[in-house]
Amino acid sequence: MRLVPVLSALAMVLLGFVLGFSVPASMTPNLQCGVLPWSGSGAANSSSSESSFLGRLWAPLFRNSSGTSNATSGIARRPEGAGRLPPGIVVSESDLHLRRLWGSPSQDAPVRKYLLTMAVGYKERANVNATVQKFSDKFDVVLFHYDGHTTEWDDEFQWSKEAVHVSARKQTKWWFAKRFLHPSIVAPYDYVFLWDEDLGVDNFTAEAYIDIVKKHGLEISQPGLDATKGHKAYDVSVKRNSGEMHKTDAGGQKCPDVHQRPCSG
Ligand SMILES: *[C@@H]1O[C@H](CO)[C@@H](O)[C@H](O)[C@H]1NC(C)=O
Ligand SMILES: *[C@@H]1O[C@H](CO)[C@@H](O)[C@H](O)[C@H]1NC(C)=O
Ligand SMILES: *[C@@H]1O[C@H](CO)[C@@H](O)[C@H](O)[C@H]1NC(C)=O
Ligand SMILES: *[C@@H]1O[C@H](CO)[C@@H](O)[C@H](O)[C@H]1NC(C)=O
Ligand SMILES: *[C@@H]1O[C@H](CO)[C@@H](O)[C@H](O)[C@H]1NC(C)=O
Repeated sequence: MRLVPVLSALAMVLLGFVLGFSVPASMTPNLQCGVLPWSGSGAANSSSSESSFLGRLWAPLFRNSSGTSNATSGIARRPEGAGRLPPGIVVSESDLHLRRLWGSPSQDAPVRKYLLTMAVGYKERANVNATVQKFSDKFDVVLFHYDGHTTEWDDEFQWSKEAVHVSARKQTKWWFAKRFLHPSIVAPYDYVFLWDEDLGVDNFTAEAYIDIVKKHGLEISQPGLDATKGHKAYDVSVKRNSGEMHKTDAGGQKCPDVHQRPCSG
């Protein structure tokens, strides 16, 4: 019943992103989930292929990972016109953690290690609530609303009041992710979860999952899905009983060309 036999984490250097684009909406469980570790905090071992993948995805403002640049000092290269600002005003990174508008700094909740983001519709709120409950207080939560309902969540769920809400009608989670999960904003987090609203989470435990991901140094992964419940889009996403994780590497048989499907879409 524990997580380990139930979930098999999948390393899909590129495939994880493909799944999000190619899965019809009617499936349960849907395959559009993914976890992106962020190498900025040093938790994940970022090899060249993975960082170049993220670099491509976030190309325009991805911070220089050579490690010798000034970005590592925590102060961004000053934009044109910022010359008169005092030090500390221009920084290279921030996060999605809520700050107090008034009161004492001691009232601030501690900074979180992980980020949970979901594109949600109000109709799926019961499952979203169940999902959020599965993620501990080590997570900042961001909800992307595609149906225009936002304030209703606060009325029903206490946790919603501490979540960030972004609303844009009829957009996909990738639309939101590309625009609101900017590298400089997610950099402080060890792992970023880009989760589906309709995943069954009965047998899921977030921290145990992260332990597996860390242990195997997975850059992009998703929990293995139970093929008996819902539609299978890719073999690699189906849970196997052969161990705690299995993976497909870019360049392998399943993904000979990273510019073609199913490695990119
Ligand atoms: C990162 O991966 C490389 C090769 O895969 C390995 O030699 C190195 O020890 C790893 N570094 C860390 C910090 O895990
Ligand atoms: C990163 O920094 C190195 C050395 O400072 C430089 O050669 C390289 O072009 C930079 N890369 C990017 C993407 O800015
Ligand atoms: C860091 O910034 C200083 C001052 O702006 C500059 O002289 C130096 O070349 C920069 N170093 C790198 C690696 O970009
Ligand atoms: C949210 O989920 C928790 C845990 O499953 C449950 O106890 C709680 O009643 C749910 N809240 C609502 C408003 O449904
Ligand atoms: C959770 O795991 C148990 C035991 O493997 C299984 O019977 C149950 O159907 C699973 N629940 C879901 C929602 O997958």
